[in-house]
Amino acid sequence: MVSRVIPVDVFDLVIFGATGDLARRKILPALYRRHSAGQMPADSRIIGAARADLTDTGFRDQVRAALAEFVPETARDQTATDEFLARISYVPVDATEDAGWGRLSGMMRAGVVRAFYFSVAPSLFGDIASRLHDHGIADAQSRIVVEKPFGRDLASARALNGVLAQHFSEAQIYRIDHYLGKETVQNLMAVRFANILFEPLWKAEYVDHVQITVAETVGVNGRGAYYDKSGAMRDMVQNHMMQLLCLIAMEPPYHFDPDAVRDEKLKVIRALKPVQPENIVRGQYSAAGNEPGYADHAENPASRTESYIALKVHVSNWRWQGVPFYLRTGKRLRARASEIAITFKQPPHAIFDDAKGWQENVLVIRLQPNEGMNLMVMIKEPGPGGMRLMQVPLDMSFAEALGAEADEVPDAYERLIMDVIRGNQTLFMRGDEVEAAWAWTDPIIEGWEGRGDRPQAYDPGSSGPEDALMLMHRDGRRWREIR
Ligand code: BG6
Repeated sequence: MVSRVIPVDVFDLVIFGATGDLARRKILPALYRRHSAGQMPADSRIIGAARADLTDTGFRDQVRAALAEFVPETARDQTATDEFLARISYVPVDATEDAGWGRLSGMMRAGVVRAFYFSVAPSLFGDIASRLHDHGIADAQSRIVVEKPFGRDLASARALNGVLAQHFSEAQIYRIDHYLGKETVQNLMAVRFANILFEPLWKAEYVDHVQITVAETVGVNGRGAYYDKSGAMRDMVQNHMMQLLCLIAMEPPYHFDPDAVRDEKLKVIRALKPVQPENIVRGQYSAAGNEPGYADHAENPASRTESYIALKVHVSNWRWQGVPFYLRTGKRLRARASEIAITFKQPPHAIFDDAKGWQENVLVIRLQPNEGMNLMVMIKEPGPGGMRLMQVPLDMSFAEALGAEADEVPDAYERLIMDVIRGNQTLFMRGDEVEAAWAWTDPIIEGWEGRGDRPQAYDPGSSGPEDALMLMHRDGRRWREIR
């Protein structure tokens, strides 16, 4: 394989909340891997900033421990670790007080990319943004990175956008949805727009329905307090599932350019119809044997929060008129499996008498694990005895097709952080996109809250609640198996 690591410009990256969970688990390990891959110029620096009163050495010890925990041993190396730690320094700052900010300001260098990662609660975004501004730490070229949850409804998302906009232009704000950094999610665009094969069929005339599944085996243990206030709709659908839906449903952008791509995604979100109550199924995993259920994990016996949701959604535009998009996501399901399946319609006229074996063409894009594509096609069943049909998969696993190259694919955070340094916003959500997603989500949540709906119980290790099966059966369709 040809090494495609293209070094980025020299940068100073300040991580606010540097001692927190996200920094330890994702941001610092991702930076380490990019360092090891040779993508960071030698004089690029990482500055940890948090409330804890640590020295550079104290923080480096924490980073070393985080790498030991979250970077596999096979990807770690003593020399690379020492070099990486040498890039790192630390400044104690409190987002709500002035101490420390002068020192941080003094550390900034002219002529290098400045990026500020807000790995903190959204309630601190405003304080940090205004202190960066007041202390002259951020300049017009600086970038800020913010994480989900970006608000919990339209009003709060607007308020956050407003707070950031006081000091930063949209071109400086990088809102992370880590699904967009996943290799296979980006591949959706390549499959659609770099092949002539699929696009002519990609419309209501030929597509029967689309299924988007993001199934997880993990529960909400350890995150119950956050999750119980969110639920699957806010945690997964408003952002990750919405992005997948957009990439499947959007029109071809005129160019692979940040605003061209995001304009097209926005049009899809705006075209989403309101969802009627009969097209929503919410579930909550129950306890099984000694294993705690959702309510135990959330420490809220009366919780009405959903750990599973299935929705039938319509994109109200010319291309998708009448085509249902079935979305489902949940915790503690049978398998960790994320995929998008596009089921095509029957040929307009059956020429074979014995159509018994006939099944629809299905294009399955497996996002994780075992990334790949699978196209179900009809062939003649081999052997004598007339023309009988059977369905076979044209199966491509990326790991097999790409060999060792597939192992070198950077994870979502590695790619996204490097995109921030490069100044490429294509894989980040624009403010209007996030607001449009909430504008669609809010009435759905308000609807079930107003009706006092309770989620249906489902067994851990199952495919979700019974009613979700009915959502498809009613339409004469079936969910694909989760496995
Ligand atoms: C996060 C959600 O954004 O995405 C989690 O908050 C979820 O609840 C996670 O588990 C799923 O991400 P991935 O990359 O494991 O599919």
